[in-house]
Amino acid sequence: MTKWSPNSWRDKPISQVPSYPDAAALKEVEGRLATFPPLVFAGEARKLKKQLATVAAGDAFLLQGGDCAESFAEHGADNIRDFFRVFLQMAVVMTFAGSQPVVKIGRVAGQFAKPRSADTETRDGVTLPSYRGDIINGTSFDEKARVPDPARQEMAYRQSAATLNLLRAFAQGGYASLENVHKWMLGFVSDSPQAEKYESLANRITETMEFMRAVGITSESNFALRETDFYTSHEALLLGYEEALTRVDSTSGDWYATSGHMIWIGDRTRQPDHAHVEYARGIKNPLGLKCGPSLEPDGLLRLIDTLNPENEPGRLTLIARFGADKVADHLPKLIRAVKKAGRSVVWSCDPMHGNTVTAAGYKTRPFDRILKEVQGFFEVHHAEGTHPGGIHIEMTGKNVTECTGGARAITAENLQDRYHTHCDPRLNADQSIELAFLVSDLLKKSGTRQAHTQAAE
Ligand code: TRP
Ligand code: MN
Repeated sequence: MTKWSPNSWRDKPISQVPSYPDAAALKEVEGRLATFPPLVFAGEARKLKKQLATVAAGDAFLLQGGDCAESFAEHGADNIRDFFRVFLQMAVVMTFAGSQPVVKIGRVAGQFAKPRSADTETRDGVTLPSYRGDIINGTSFDEKARVPDPARQEMAYRQSAATLNLLRAFAQGGYASLENVHKWMLGFVSDSPQAEKYESLANRITETMEFMRAVGITSESNFALRETDFYTSHEALLLGYEEALTRVDSTSGDWYATSGHMIWIGDRTRQPDHAHVEYARGIKNPLGLKCGPSLEPDGLLRLIDTLNPENEPGRLTLIARFGADKVADHLPKLIRAVKKAGRSVVWSCDPMHGNTVTAAGYKTRPFDRILKEVQGFFEVHHAEGTHPGGIHIEMTGKNVTECTGGARAITAENLQDRYHTHCDPRLNADQSIELAFLVSDLLKKSGTRQAHTQAAE
């Protein structure tokens, strides 16, 4: 394999690149970004990789989720807190029910660039560049907004830094303490269909904490009760930005992406000899790879060879996104090929991107299809004897109406009420927690199944 450097991707074919009209301005911004402080540290990325290795071994579960696309307009403390609160609720539900640690990774603090199916968009005879995410251009349909503007990269960097700062404070400064399981509920509207279920789980946790306190284990003396490890991730699509934030770790001499702890490669940019795979192979962070219906076993094995040649556990998470009806057809052959080749991976399920439909003029996702894909994913893994390692979802802490269905039975007609996404439809707070309960039921079942197999051995 040829020599890698942070800019070796520039010699490869590339898709999904914006065309910046002012190359000099772009270069200037990239040069400045290269002097800015890293957003994350190499040691944190290594710690995440270790935690993901425990998922690969079947001893933990991965929860990865957040916005489809972060936006400049919605940047604010309330949004970040609402997202994090629902994320913690999901994590605690799954930890409690699955009796397994949950590795927590947000699609946040860097998830700005979007791949698009067409380079341009035409409305009423006017053709403009497609919206590619706030780090590149603006959503509104006018020339000024749609022409890619490199200055947006600095804004995305600053927003990521501020978001990460608050998330770190929440994760480590007391908000995420298990003492607060009830307080995380406050954001819940009182008639939430999940409220009762969550509350009874929270009561059991509080009771356990009281018992532990009585025997001398308190959140003051035990940081595991008080803090949580929360990591960031995004699709590494805008490679000039990524390159500028790629740094050598002084302790190991290795290259790391410092734009987030984990980055992933999208289903549209995973060609093995193209730029995005080239960039990702040289950095040491944990990587995600989106696997859609067009990925065949041979192609997957080739990508695994390139992205994880040393078969390092925790390095590679395969994020399956087939659609509820296709998961049973496509997933088993990939699992078998990976298993036969003796490759260590984390298998995660993205039940969002294969289940997008249009209803009442809105891009939406029926909640029952999302649940069905997750169920199908677990069933396939049980049949293959492999670990259904995690889920990867698009969610928000707000009570939006973007996906239809769920316990509140959002209809196609309701979509117009609170449809706020800049990109794909997200699960709202209720739907996210409902999904967490479903996953915990599935985890409980696999727990008993594992226990049975062990007893039979
Ligand atoms: N530190 C443990 C963990 O992160 C327990 C924990 C503390 C926790 N706060 C949490 C678990 C919030 C889930 C949600 O798993
Ligand atoms: Mn999306």
